[in-house]
Amino acid sequence: MLTRAPGFLYKNGELYCEGVSLASLAKKFATPLYVYATTAIRERFALLDRAFRGVKHTLCYSVKANSNLSILRFLAQLGAGFDIVSGGELERVRLASKPSLKGIVFSGVGKTAEEMTLALKSGILLFNIESEGELDLLARCAAALRKHADIAFRVNPDVPAETHPYISTGLREHKFGVPISAARRLYQIAAAHPYLRVAGVSLHIGSQITDVAPFRLALERAVELVEQLATDGHKIRFLDAGGGLGISYNRNHPEDYAALARRYAEAVTVPLRKLKRNRPHLLLEPGRFIVAQAGALVTRVLYRKENGTKRFTIVDAAMNDLLRPSLYGARHEVVPVDLRVNESARSQSDICGPICETGDFLARDVPLPVVAPGSLLCVYDAGAYGMSLASNYNTRPRAAEVLIDGRRARMVRRREQLKDMLRPEVDCL
Ligand code: LLP
Repeated sequence: MLTRAPGFLYKNGELYCEGVSLASLAKKFATPLYVYATTAIRERFALLDRAFRGVKHTLCYSVKANSNLSILRFLAQLGAGFDIVSGGELERVRLASKPSLKGIVFSGVGKTAEEMTLALKSGILLFNIESEGELDLLARCAAALRKHADIAFRVNPDVPAETHPYISTGLREHKFGVPISAARRLYQIAAAHPYLRVAGVSLHIGSQITDVAPFRLALERAVELVEQLATDGHKIRFLDAGGGLGISYNRNHPEDYAALARRYAEAVTVPLRKLKRNRPHLLLEPGRFIVAQAGALVTRVLYRKENGTKRFTIVDAAMNDLLRPSLYGARHEVVPVDLRVNESARSQSDICGPICETGDFLARDVPLPVVAPGSLLCVYDAGAYGMSLASNYNTRPRAAEVLIDGRRARMVRRREQLKDMLRPEVDCL
């Protein structure tokens, strides 16, 4: 089956993650519950890694997609580097795998002096600089510490990519990167700083992109820049192609992920191969492709209700647990965990959480059998930007997370308790 990563499948009408039934997990760890399949993460990582085997590369997993420490540690064991965007994410990498600090690329438009200092002391691989002001601040932080910083500019290639407008980043009108036309001047400035070392060129055009043509176009522009920079006398050791490769959230549009990874690798590497001498080491920053389909959100039905012809299924997970449907209109497939008790005819239902907002839904107009209160539902493809976007809105504790490996289930984050949420305020009373 091509639609989703290995890991979730029905056995005798009951949904399992690898060798463990979701019903038993819900019983043991309660709901809402994030469940991740180790095998799926490993397979997706390997697919990408294999697709790029022809060029020297490092997969710097984008921590924001799913920043659970155990998942980071697992990816570090697979050989991943990391793409981070905050001092907090840096500390996560340190806790998960200290040796991986030297495999970090630090992206983001708003790095603070504290974050830069922390990263310099940690000896990270590369700073992706997004403005002249940031370059200046990094130069001062590095000089104060007497430590050298390897830098790349994140260039904005002005390439449109078809995705949700909130997660498209590669156009002039977006806040990201420096205009590619201004890059040569900025590299000259960088090279003049005694504690900065020009080391790379970086870009990232957006997220959830499944047509690989924009990647190719962006890379062609980046490669052209690398050539110009070489003429200017810079040594470009790294080309960071960013992340953004998407997945199919829709089982009616199945995807062959091995083939997609190969198409993506071709789009990225064909322009790169044009560089005959001193071809830079390729960095990639995949997030979603590796973890999205490895994760699901398990939730319990609380109530059923109808409003005229409209059916609602009220569940115990809400937009604070999985924001993607509310924020991007993302469609996640929702299925019953137990098919044996759900044999009634299917009809359309909205699946909503307990939060006091009309926008609080996990899915709308889903063809769902009548599921009685107490039944479990599984929201697929929630491994990326699920838990990492979760909040305490409505003073709801964040869900627990479990990582499955074969028949073994390990809790990798305990359910938040009221006291965890209230502590910072209680301290101020
Ligand atoms: N590198 C940079 C610089 C990024 O900004 C991002 C994602 C990535 C890598 C990883 O992109 P990926 O391979 O996961 O597509 N919350 C949204 C996605 C936001 C993406 C932000 N940047 C969602 O749920 O769809």
